[in-house]
Amino acid sequence: MPVYILGIESSCDETSAAVLNGTTVLSNFIATQTVHQHFGGVVPELASRAHQQHIIPVVHTALQRANVDKKDLSAVAFTRGPGLLGSLLVGVSFAKSFAQALQIPLVAVDHMQAHILAHFLQLPGQEKQVPTFPFICLTVSGGHTQIVRVNDYFEMKIIGQTIDDAAGETFDKAAKIMGLPYPGGPVIDKLANQGNAEAFKFAKPKVSGYDYSFSGLKTSILYFLRDQLKNDPEFITKHKNDLAASVQKTIIDILTEKLIQASEATGIKEIAIAGGVSANSGLRNKMLEFQQTKGWNIYLPGLAFTTDNAAMIAVAGYFKYLTGDFAPLDITPYSRGGHVFG
Ligand code: KG4
Ligand code: ZN
Repeated sequence: MPVYILGIESSCDETSAAVLNGTTVLSNFIATQTVHQHFGGVVPELASRAHQQHIIPVVHTALQRANVDKKDLSAVAFTRGPGLLGSLLVGVSFAKSFAQALQIPLVAVDHMQAHILAHFLQLPGQEKQVPTFPFICLTVSGGHTQIVRVNDYFEMKIIGQTIDDAAGETFDKAAKIMGLPYPGGPVIDKLANQGNAEAFKFAKPKVSGYDYSFSGLKTSILYFLRDQLKNDPEFITKHKNDLAASVQKTIIDILTEKLIQASEATGIKEIAIAGGVSANSGLRNKMLEFQQTKGWNIYLPGLAFTTDNAAMIAVAGYFKYLTGDFAPLDITPYSRGGHVFG
């Protein structure tokens, strides 16, 4: 009997639905909300409304593309949190009604755990190697930056995290200062490919343990550009690529320094990256370099499974389905916190 899981993701500004057969992705449909681009960041109220508009057609499309009838679904998995409460409520309410109507189990998934479990997704006809436990995952997204020790599918411990801004947020804020569109991460990535990463130096934080801090870097970029623009109003335009490359390199250096320390201290050489920033080509190349220089086994998620997507929610849901870990119908979303981490 195949196990078909429908995954629903609505924690931020992507409305997504996916259908899996076990861990194999049959469909993963994402409706990106473009309305936020005018505002240079996600506007929570607009995000909730857009989820309301998109959720039914998105689920319909995901089922259609997977060629799976809703009557054949085994369970509905949804993002419980963390995320924007109004956005989460749309997905949670939809998932409850759908599961109830179909008389199938409901499975609640933590968004950050799902980013990590995306490593267990398979594409039809392709056998991808998956990490073996225990592994370390650097989870870097718009809202989080965490070094997680993953002992088992749902036995995860955060051993380091940011004390202020997240890595993705830093990419986005740096881009905003440079007058680039939102979200800035992918734009900086693209420009950085044509720039000199050694052109400019920015402040690096000193934080103890495996924790991170990015607020100083943001301020350092802001003050540096403010000073340069006084002398040359065209400074950013003239140095766009070099600025992007230097900012990107600084963020990657900060991220990887702590990751190296965590690997050395734990002796774990199975290393994965996850979350939106794991799409960054500079970070991905750096990890491949470490595969050679440090003897790490590196796991990079497929690009479609880096930024928010429902396939990762469905795969986490699948593992919970196997253990009978179902959610009650009065379950509510949470906006923050690592309720599920040790
Ligand atoms: O995981 P995600 O889709 O959403 C959250 O859970 O936050 O991550 C979104 C973040 C944004 O900050 C975006 O700028 C960043 O991931 N991002 C990137 C790249 N693609 C997305 N940052 C750097 N380089 C990229 N290629
Ligand atoms: Zn995310």
